[in-house]
Amino acid sequence: MTDQSSNQMWGGRFAAGPDAIMEAINASIGFDKRMAAQDIAGSRAHAAMLAATGVITDNDAEAIREGLLTVLSEIEGGTFQFSTALEDIHMNVEARLKEIIGEPAGRLHTGRSRNDQVATDFKLWVRDQLDAAESGLLALIRALLSQAEAGADWVMPGFTHLQTAQPVTWGHHMMAYVEMFGRDLSRVRDARARMNESPLGAAALAGTSFPIDREMTAKALGFDRPAANSLDAVSDRDFALEFLSCASISAVHLSRFAEELVIWSSAQFRFVTLSDRFSTGSSIMPQKKNPDAAELIRAKVGRIFGANTALMMVMKGLPLAYSKDMQEDKEQVFDAADNWMLALAAMEGMVKDMTGNRESLAAAAGSGFSTATDLADWLVRVLKVPFRDAHHVTGTLVAMAESRGCDLPDLSLADMQGVHEGITDDIFTVLGVENSVNSRMSYGGTAPAQVRAQIARWREILGG
Ligand code: ARG
Repeated sequence: MTDQSSNQMWGGRFAAGPDAIMEAINASIGFDKRMAAQDIAGSRAHAAMLAATGVITDNDAEAIREGLLTVLSEIEGGTFQFSTALEDIHMNVEARLKEIIGEPAGRLHTGRSRNDQVATDFKLWVRDQLDAAESGLLALIRALLSQAEAGADWVMPGFTHLQTAQPVTWGHHMMAYVEMFGRDLSRVRDARARMNESPLGAAALAGTSFPIDREMTAKALGFDRPAANSLDAVSDRDFALEFLSCASISAVHLSRFAEELVIWSSAQFRFVTLSDRFSTGSSIMPQKKNPDAAELIRAKVGRIFGANTALMMVMKGLPLAYSKDMQEDKEQVFDAADNWMLALAAMEGMVKDMTGNRESLAAAAGSGFSTATDLADWLVRVLKVPFRDAHHVTGTLVAMAESRGCDLPDLSLADMQGVHEGITDDIFTVLGVENSVNSRMSYGGTAPAQVRAQIARWREILGG
């Protein structure tokens, strides 16, 4: 007989139970209980398959499948007693199943190991999160499309180096983020398609001598097919790494937009007004309205990318097949998933509620000599001046305007002819900000007509 306190699942060869420190470092139940529903779905599919292939009886399978539903309802109802001594969700569920149905519970683990079990549970969990990310991204994209539509022709400064560069449209700027989150969406969909192979039935690492049907369990769990190599199936965490890299890139995009909202909502810019619902006040300065949601979204990239780095490091250099190191995968992914979903939802809420300040945007668009390129382009197009020379002439005119404290359209024709004699009155038709944006009709350019075409294209992609 083994010692009373040795593990009831694997304690056969052990004379004594684990040290408390051993139990503390070994147990994952504190976090992997989040995979209870996936664990039970996997076990129910496995039991049905064992009966269909004649490995266990129909009666035993029925008892197991029913008993597992009872366990699930106890977990969901909050009455389940989780035990650290039982290490993880797999053994907690199985031990409780044994209490409920008795002997048949011991047949569930036939032709299976915790190694393929945990890989299956975790894949199902990550797959749900990819679906949640897809919904979150779609909702955010829709919110951006509405903003783009409302302000397709609002002018604002476009920046490079955060210095005024050329006027652009509000709609164009919003649509830039639609492209970014659209790529995130396609990465999420790619990752889901690639990861959707079932590890179940790989057993510990080598497969099993029982006549199991891996196609059947794969299908029951919504996988496209069983994973083709049992060693790979139990040691693969690419799906988690890919989830984290999708999350990281998306968090980078979220942080860039968040940063712009922080800048834009400042008293110095006043490009947007964020809603009260997505702002906070200061306990000491009554006038303050702080863009906390945007700041927190900006910061989330740190922990999400941290999770990505952490799991990369856990996985690097691991020999095949399963190693306990891999138990360190879950907390990283759970934390990153929670924070990615929260950031997507917060960004969607902020974008839906925010108001672009059309007048401030337009006033800023006209400052900083933002139509200097249009002036140079006019010299090239109308007077056939080589671009480099046109650049120089324009630079001279900018310096003149700067020294007089005025903008380019405020210079007189005589002033301009003093710099280049060929300039005519026609120059003023390109100097206004509206003229400037309307002229940028190249595909993907900032002209309102181009922006509206891109909105229509996205509406069609998303089905309205
Ligand atoms: N709790 C473990 C994990 O999360 C389950 C697999 C344990 N397998 C084993 N052979 N000890 O990875």
